[in-house]
Amino acid sequence: MENPKSFFEINDLVVEYYADGEVVHAVNGVSLRLRPGQSLGLVGETGAGKTTIAKSVLRILPDRGARICSGGIKLNGTDLLSLSEHDMRKIRGNDIAMIFQDPMTALNPVQRVGDQIAEVVKIHSECSSLEAEEKAKEMLEMVGIPADRYKEYPHQFSGGMKQRVVIAIALACNPHLLLADEPTTALDVTIQAQVLDMIEDLKRKYNTAMIMITHDLGIVATVCDEVAIIYAGEIVEYGTKEEIFEHPSHPYTVGLFDAIPNMNEDEEWLHPIEGMPPDPTNLPAGCAFGPRCPRATAECREKKIGLNRTEDGHVCRCIHINKTAQGGEV
Ligand SMILES: Nc1ncnc2c1ncn2[C@@H]1O[C@H](COP(=O)(O)OP(=O)(O)OP(=O)(O)O)[C@@H](O)[C@H]1O
Ligand SMILES: [Mg+2]
Repeated sequence: MENPKSFFEINDLVVEYYADGEVVHAVNGVSLRLRPGQSLGLVGETGAGKTTIAKSVLRILPDRGARICSGGIKLNGTDLLSLSEHDMRKIRGNDIAMIFQDPMTALNPVQRVGDQIAEVVKIHSECSSLEAEEKAKEMLEMVGIPADRYKEYPHQFSGGMKQRVVIAIALACNPHLLLADEPTTALDVTIQAQVLDMIEDLKRKYNTAMIMITHDLGIVATVCDEVAIIYAGEIVEYGTKEEIFEHPSHPYTVGLFDAIPNMNEDEEWLHPIEGMPPDPTNLPAGCAFGPRCPRATAECREKKIGLNRTEDGHVCRCIHINKTAQGGEV
């Protein structure tokens, strides 16, 4: 459904990988939308399809062995999937930038840190080398690194500083949309908090919209306006942060919240969600969460379930959740 207020939309995206003669159903009909400056948390277990969605947006899936089978991705009304590679290159880094899951390998070890930022600035704006260098120094300062470290190499930087450089590169051209794929997973908690603060500041300053990919509901609580919970390549629950945190409805979301340790209660054990995500080469016929779900019935095992609006005003893919009269998506 096209939303007039959204500047970015993914509609019914289906992505497959082909490996060892098998089809991996990585993304199975994902739709989401963002307004300028809005941030959406994309939360789910390992293998849920989060990175695949982000890579589909930038069209950087492997040429061989991966295919966007159907669906649409629109930025300001332009269908990104129908652009030529030449036009897509102008979008990458300029309109949409990505912070990759592994910051430690995202930098070139034999190129000066500052030059790596300046290079991105030069590719996307018609400025002189000197102007690009000035902008790169400005970006370094902005992410809290003194500009006089411009000429140093990545190995001279700590993990947290490298991640700041990766963020500076992603933000160097003031993208309208930032895809942040687990940007703080590799960092210790104090640096993690600093990096999140910095992302928040920069978002406010430039009104950048963001998709924050994470396993961590604490990060969602800190930086996101909306949350989409993803399971086996499908969004199972989607709504504002307040709705999802105050009224989690899907049994999988409930399980995720139950798995967070509660410091106020004297509990000896955490409550992990029993079982494993389904094999993406052989998804269940009915609800993908059915085999692990404490509420599953024969009906859940038989038919595919759509997203329905809950009484609390967000959407949820579960037949056991009371629906409002209207149904439909957020
Ligand atoms: N290049 C590839 N070839 C084959 N299968 C792949 C490839 N990349 C990812 N997959 C599979 O696609 C599914 C989705 O992977 P994806 O990396 O998008 O998950 P994710 O949600 O980002 O997980 P994580 O939290 O571990 O980063 C997984 O089953 C994964 O094994
Ligand atoms: Mg990933």
